[in-house]
Amino acid sequence: MAGIGHDAPVPHASDSTTMTTVTFGERFFASWYPSFMARVERAGQADVRGAQLALAHGRTLEIGAGNGLSVPHYPDELDELVLLEPNPALRARLAARTDTPAAPVTIVDGDAHHLDFPDASFDTVTASLVFCSVRDPAQALSEVHRVLRPGGVFLFHEHVRGTGVRATFQDLLTPMQRRLADGCHANRDFESLLGTTDFHIEDIEHTRMPTWMPTIVPLVVGTARRG
Ligand SMILES: C[S@@+](CC[C@H](N)C(=O)[O-])C[C@H]1O[C@@H](n2cnc3c(N)ncnc32)[C@H](O)[C@@H]1O
Repeated sequence: MAGIGHDAPVPHASDSTTMTTVTFGERFFASWYPSFMARVERAGQADVRGAQLALAHGRTLEIGAGNGLSVPHYPDELDELVLLEPNPALRARLAARTDTPAAPVTIVDGDAHHLDFPDASFDTVTASLVFCSVRDPAQALSEVHRVLRPGGVFLFHEHVRGTGVRATFQDLLTPMQRRLADGCHANRDFESLLGTTDFHIEDIEHTRMPTWMPTIVPLVVGTARRG
């Protein structure tokens, strides 16, 4: 792995995107999310990413890569790592990372609802803290399934709806959270949705994000396989 940093361009990453307009919500989110999450990563979230992303193999796509918190955790042995991120302000941070794996890295603009890749073109697709934000999670899951080859794995890592008082609290605060965090819903039941798809859930851990923000504490981390 190369050293961690945000100042220099990634020598072996290519950014195939053209500059697109950044909205106020995207720019605002990009202004606070990286430093907020840096504390969460130091508190233990980085270990969760590291353990899970060691399972990535072959040609790998990450959807909603953000500022690249998962990037340093991918194996060097991947055939290729494609990082898809629609927010131009976060994509610029992604392109500035130097802690990428040795594998070829490509950064692309795009939308999880309509992935611009052929059917069965990836061995692994990953998503971390993304299905809270997409407009139509079922459509995005169907696209993940489509671009995975049969037998390919989907590595997910999502904050989800809790139970009891926490769930009520999440319902109440979701409208505000959506405004402050570029569309992030605190109360999505990702596991139930995944259960309605053609994915086979091989492994799922119910855990907690190490953060003081109670709406995003319940976490599911796991592996689903395309049959
Ligand atoms: C909470 S951030 C998570 C970023 C990163 N995955 C992480 O673990 O830190 C949510 C990400 O999902 C992205 N996103 C939102 N809607 C999307 C869509 N329709 N397609 C792809 N990514 C999307 C956002 O731009 C943002 O980078």
